[in-house]
Amino acid sequence: MCGIVGYIGTQQAYPIILKGLKRLEYRGYDSAGIAIYNGNDLGICKTKGKVADLQKKCEANIELEGSIGIGHTRWATHGEPNDVNSHPHYSNSGNLAIIHNGIIENYDSLKKELSNRGYTFQSDTDTEVLVNLIEDIKTKENVKLGKAVQIALNQTVGAYAIAVFDKTKPNEIVVARLGSPLAIGVGDNEYYIASDASPFIEYTKNAIYLEDGEMAVVRLGKEIKVRKIHDDSLVDPYVQELQLNLDQIEKAGFDHFMLKEIYEQPSAIKDTYRGRMLPDQGLIRMAGIDDNLERFLNAKRIVVVACGTSWHAGLVSEYIFEDLARIPVEVEYASEFRYRNPVINKDDIVIAISQSGETADTMAAIKLAKENGAFVFGVCNVVGSSISRETDAGAYTHAGPEIGVASTKAFTTQITVLSLIALKLGKAKGTISNSDFHMYLNELELIPYKIEKALESNEHIIKVAEVYKDAKNCLYLGRGFNFPVALEGALKLKEISYIHAEGYPAAEMKHGPIALIDEQMPVVVIATKKGHYEKVVSNIQEIKSRKGKIIAIVTEGDTAVREMADHMIEVPDTIEAFTPLLTTIPLQLLSYHIAVMLDKNVDQPRNLAKSVTVE
Ligand code: M6R
Repeated sequence: MCGIVGYIGTQQAYPIILKGLKRLEYRGYDSAGIAIYNGNDLGICKTKGKVADLQKKCEANIELEGSIGIGHTRWATHGEPNDVNSHPHYSNSGNLAIIHNGIIENYDSLKKELSNRGYTFQSDTDTEVLVNLIEDIKTKENVKLGKAVQIALNQTVGAYAIAVFDKTKPNEIVVARLGSPLAIGVGDNEYYIASDASPFIEYTKNAIYLEDGEMAVVRLGKEIKVRKIHDDSLVDPYVQELQLNLDQIEKAGFDHFMLKEIYEQPSAIKDTYRGRMLPDQGLIRMAGIDDNLERFLNAKRIVVVACGTSWHAGLVSEYIFEDLARIPVEVEYASEFRYRNPVINKDDIVIAISQSGETADTMAAIKLAKENGAFVFGVCNVVGSSISRETDAGAYTHAGPEIGVASTKAFTTQITVLSLIALKLGKAKGTISNSDFHMYLNELELIPYKIEKALESNEHIIKVAEVYKDAKNCLYLGRGFNFPVALEGALKLKEISYIHAEGYPAAEMKHGPIALIDEQMPVVVIATKKGHYEKVVSNIQEIKSRKGKIIAIVTEGDTAVREMADHMIEVPDTIEAFTPLLTTIPLQLLSYHIAVMLDKNVDQPRNLAKSVTVE
């Protein structure tokens, strides 16, 4: 969590850093701060609240003029969100300033040692301990900043992406990473530092992504030197040309990123399958699978590790893999998997799913699986992310940047990638016939257009949202492929509207949740005309006879449910395995409109952050 930005060059640093922080606000937004070297001293501005609050506070602050600086937007770990705990933090001499994304786990013992030597601390943060440790080493050992940072980091336990500078040597910024992302934008006699490339994309397309355990001294007028933190060995930095463009990270006329991203799903899914799915040739081409086909075909089991919405996509894939490729699948919360003593075999394939590619629990689960000899395949959205680099092979979802904290297009594109893999394996194993394979491919090709159709229900969904916006609780029910969609619908409502919601397999209702149903309880039921349709219709009857309010997601033209449901939202017909790609759309819109009506911060819900880089 937390977003970091730095600049060193010839332009004014403040506007670049401020704009960069706004773009990184999805990573944390409880406090923010900026430090600029103004040719004389450090101009500092920090505040509790969002980057917009920071901007108000910093406005007209002439001390913030200068062309080297750092900024931070925070998601609190150590110490509550307030002005003092906001980054940047300073060393006791006032010379060093630091920004940090991550956690220094042994900060307490380091703090005690430093306190014994006379250091004092203003904040409750682990970061202030780190900057003083760097200063202590720099003074004691009489070394340059880069060396002091390196020695200090070798004494720390934890995760970090940091940027540090010394006001007495204002021509360089020292950066390092372990477990949290850090990119360096390489411009013309200027450098940008950020948690991802979005803060500098309009200035340069050339970027170096530090790997875990690497650091660099970013010095004006000099080439960047990257080295390993633990043994000082030099690394050849790889300058990558970015494909990202500015339009992709702006709202394009939508009120919120979440809504824009919901509407982007048709094109995002096309981007996911483009070049991979070749219906005319009856082929699916995916380099990560093609290169490891034998391994996949011989896999005894697939274990999916993920968190949140990505975990829900994993659950959908369990149904798809088992149905199409007849491979047993287990879907694990990465946070539980990493601390169990899971049985993992060399014949297992572990699929790690993560939009951001930075989720700490998923990363730890991958490392554990690799230590146990499993082959790990990543399904990530963010190109070059930590998880995409850590995994043995993988497939990107190509959904484009997802900025809204509530995941939408990540979910549907993850299901698309996983479906392609299952279809490819099913065909290679002979568990689906050639004609079925063709039929699935043709249908998947139509899904973007069917999502466009599903999006046409938006006005109707606004009316439904109006009726239920003041509900205190909500149940979501689904069966088979749509059970995970019920979980996902409930998660969307909870996280952006703060209404308590639960997802259940529809048949489980009678084992407990049915007791909750009365005339106050809205129940969203996914009842597409596939799979267990009749059974779900029976569940709807059970809800109706207990006076629950029914919002049914049905297949176009359904009449049976109409008689019982209070509201019906139609989606186009499709093959059962692909119904989640359609049924999830009205659930995303329903949550979105309820949250807007309740005046909640849709894109940045309280207490959350887009990528959870702490455990
Ligand atoms: O980046 P990841 O896919 O690894 O993130 C996992 C979860 O943190 C994420 O899906 C979270 O649950 C979303 N806020 C849900 O909308």
